[in-house]
Amino acid sequence: MAGAAGGALAARVFQGGGLGFIAYGYQSLEKLKSEVDTARALLKVGAQSPLPIGIGYLAWQLEAKPVTVAHDLLSVALENDVQAVWLSFGTEIPRWIKFIRDSERKLGETKIFVQVSSVKEALVACHEWKVDVIIAQGSEAGGHGSSTSPPLLTLLSEILSVIPNDGPPILGAGGLANGGHLAALIALGASGGVFGTRFLLSPESLYSDTARQALISARTGSSSGIAIDDLRRVYADGVRADDPDRMVIWAGAGVGLMNKIQPAKEIVGEIHEECVSRLQAAASSLG
Ligand SMILES: Cc1cc2nc3c(=O)[nH]c(=O)nc-3n(C[C@H](O)[C@H](O)[C@H](O)COP(=O)(O)O)c2cc1C
Repeated sequence: MAGAAGGALAARVFQGGGLGFIAYGYQSLEKLKSEVDTARALLKVGAQSPLPIGIGYLAWQLEAKPVTVAHDLLSVALENDVQAVWLSFGTEIPRWIKFIRDSERKLGETKIFVQVSSVKEALVACHEWKVDVIIAQGSEAGGHGSSTSPPLLTLLSEILSVIPNDGPPILGAGGLANGGHLAALIALGASGGVFGTRFLLSPESLYSDTARQALISARTGSSSGIAIDDLRRVYADGVRADDPDRMVIWAGAGVGLMNKIQPAKEIVGEIHEECVSRLQAAASSLG
């Protein structure tokens, strides 16, 4: 999550049992490296050892830069021997995958994750790019997304039906708030789920306390009924007046179900526990 997921969040997610990602979006190379250093320090992982987190890159941001700068940014992942590189939202994703895979550095085990928002993209990611993991992002997702993606359950079912059984694992993303949601995806056939907004509510995210409080206050459908032109006018007035009630705070459709700030590690544990118990309850109710 560009602007929200740094080294502290990624490290604590790993410690909870999940795979956390530092996001590269708009920051400098130095800032990305300092987030990596933060993760290393929290995890007490020495400079020569693999770093058990991932780094996500907004591909269009890489593409907006001279290619040498893009390679320097990707090299941060290579030099740190991270678990995974996540790529999304660009037109030259195969080029970045090739750079990573051709690297002579140690990166043997690093998996390539690609986030997609259509069946067509999923097929290309599987058959042409041969990615290691596909993330199906539904329209419920917070932050960066496609304006044309279908809702998650529809998109995920469609993708699961066309990707061969020996193809890459498919994860679902968009609107997930709890372990019950994750259990639903697993019941559908997904290999797992991606939680974004839920972690904005951890103290480790790079969001401010004001932004976190605004997320806690958000209710499902709370902005409905307001015409877009009115919203634009109120927002412009708010920006002029430096009004904290008129900030842009990205969130997924599950935000109305989130009501507390919680350490990232605890969030992972709670989601996992609830997911397992929901699946067990469903299995036993079938007899
Ligand atoms: C604040 C924010 C920033 C995001 N930035 C990125 C990004 O840089 N790259 C990306 O692939 N997805 C980004 N996303 C989307 C997430 O990868 C994921 O699809 C989404 O958070 C899942 O939906 P949820 O937020 O409802 O859990 C972002 C999401 C949020 C909330």
